[in-house]
Amino acid sequence: MSPQRSRTILAAGLVGALATSLSLVAPSSALAGGGHHGGGHRAQLPKVPTMTGYGGAVASVDRDASQAGIDVLRRGGNAADAAIATAAMLGVVEPYTSGIGGGGFFVWRDGRTGRVTTIDGREAAPASFTDKAFIDPATGTPLPFTTAVNSGLSVGVPGTPALWQRVLDRHGTKRLGSLLEPAERKAVEGIVVDQSFHDLTAENEARFATFPETSRVFLRDGKAPAVGSRWNNPDIARAYREIRLHGVDSIYHGALGRALVAEARNPSAKDGVSVPKGQITMADLAAYRALDRQPTHARYRGLDVYGMGVPSSGGIAVGEILNLLEAYDQRTGRDLSEVSDAEYLHRFSEASATAFADRNRWVGDVPGVPTRELLSQGFANERACTFSESTALPRPVPFGSPDGAYAACAPAAGSTPAAPDGRSTTSLSVSDRWGNVVSFTTTIEQYGGSGITVPGWGFLLNNELTDFNFAPLAPGVPDPNLPGPGKRPRSSMSPTIILRDGQPYLSVGSPGGATIITTVAQVITEYLDRDKALVDAIAAPRLSSRNGTENAEQALLSSPEGAALRAQGHVLALQDPIGNAVAIRLLGHGKAEAAAETTRRGGGSAMVVRPTR
Ligand code: GLY
Repeated sequence: MSPQRSRTILAAGLVGALATSLSLVAPSSALAGGGHHGGGHRAQLPKVPTMTGYGGAVASVDRDASQAGIDVLRRGGNAADAAIATAAMLGVVEPYTSGIGGGGFFVWRDGRTGRVTTIDGREAAPASFTDKAFIDPATGTPLPFTTAVNSGLSVGVPGTPALWQRVLDRHGTKRLGSLLEPAERKAVEGIVVDQSFHDLTAENEARFATFPETSRVFLRDGKAPAVGSRWNNPDIARAYREIRLHGVDSIYHGALGRALVAEARNPSAKDGVSVPKGQITMADLAAYRALDRQPTHARYRGLDVYGMGVPSSGGIAVGEILNLLEAYDQRTGRDLSEVSDAEYLHRFSEASATAFADRNRWVGDVPGVPTRELLSQGFANERACTFSESTALPRPVPFGSPDGAYAACAPAAGSTPAAPDGRSTTSLSVSDRWGNVVSFTTTIEQYGGSGITVPGWGFLLNNELTDFNFAPLAPGVPDPNLPGPGKRPRSSMSPTIILRDGQPYLSVGSPGGATIITTVAQVITEYLDRDKALVDAIAAPRLSSRNGTENAEQALLSSPEGAALRAQGHVLALQDPIGNAVAIRLLGHGKAEAAAETTRRGGGSAMVVRPTR
């Protein structure tokens, strides 16, 4: 399908849907939510995947969450305030992807200074964690991945509450307590279970049933709540109230922390089931800090692409993919915008596999990660020398040497295989009328995290420590992502902000474990290079090539482009869906287009404060 044709068809459908939905928007007198918080601006916006207008924008996977952000913007809050309100709502209505038991990364473009900065709220390993933490002492071999996932051992010190507070301290104008209130009310009121919530719960039924508290909170008579039924979680409302009243200290020094530590160290599994115990202590919680970090930076098509640095690999890998695509343009004399869809996907796959080779070898929460070199065009040009327009490189592609001395073509170094990872997480983008822009990706790792709910407080604990490699990936090759005391596991989260001539241009992010990197890079290139509208770039069938595993959605697998990729030697495996992306396009003069998924996971929710037709 030509990009131009898909853009026309989809965009036409959405304009009609938006016009119909907007005509149904309730007047302020008939609105949901308590009037005392509303200041007369309580209009509920429709759930649509793209909306354009003024006054600020929010894109997330959920209508209630986007609405929570929009309501904050309407009340004069800025993008930081709105992002925290949106995230807090996601912790209630999308409890399997993020929440106060997890962590995340926040990228911020400041409207006043024009600078891009980031905050790292990644979960941390306990001080007692060693590089043998996931080695079974009885056998000397790594624990099975699923054993580690469903355990207290995989629970990292949550970073989300500290991140929320640091975001507000640095950039916000509202108090955390006021931003939590709508989510707290929603938790009591409940949600109407949709297909996506039902399916994610059903997928987790067996492991949730392992933990009676999780079963009590998230299942109904041991089963996923039915589509159309109401599900609520008064316990998480209680947790939010606790944070409202006592601040995030209630996690790092108080009652919530004590309950969390007790449960992680001694998970209350059902009779007859024993799961590995965690190592977190109150001292680990007290020592935790959300940290300011330098953003990563790459140039692409004359734009400045900012992302999340270590302990995420997202900014580095996305930037390297983009640099490689520019290097392929140079080598072949044909730009990415000129080639066929199949050629585009082949280039994208080769660049992704190469970037993953380098990410696996060089990136982790260790000193001396060569971020600048990995993101240099010289390194990408050297790495691009093995690219063939007709044939896929054999996997795994060897890693390169980001040493600052680049030749036309470097000899192949060693290689490492891919490690297993989850598919969960959520991302949101926000902009406001002052030129502030947010891209914020947050997670509890797997859908449903560790499967362990903190008793009486209604939130799931992360299993983020399974993002460490349990043992070195390849003999004799240093592995930067082994567990270690206080270390943060390598992430793939890729919240990204792109500037053009110093002005905000695009905010983008996605969930999906390691596929986050490829999804974000694909959305950027589908939009910038393939002449797609933003919502169509998000909707495009996805390919995720990770230097070993190469996944494609069904629409791509069964397309002529899928056949062409296979003919070039790509070994494609089905994964569907891949990612659940959101984005905001800044159009200048205060205008923005928010965009989200059209159909994946039931579609996302794009909103602006003052929509235009
Ligand atoms: N938990 C997903 C990631 O950090 O990449």
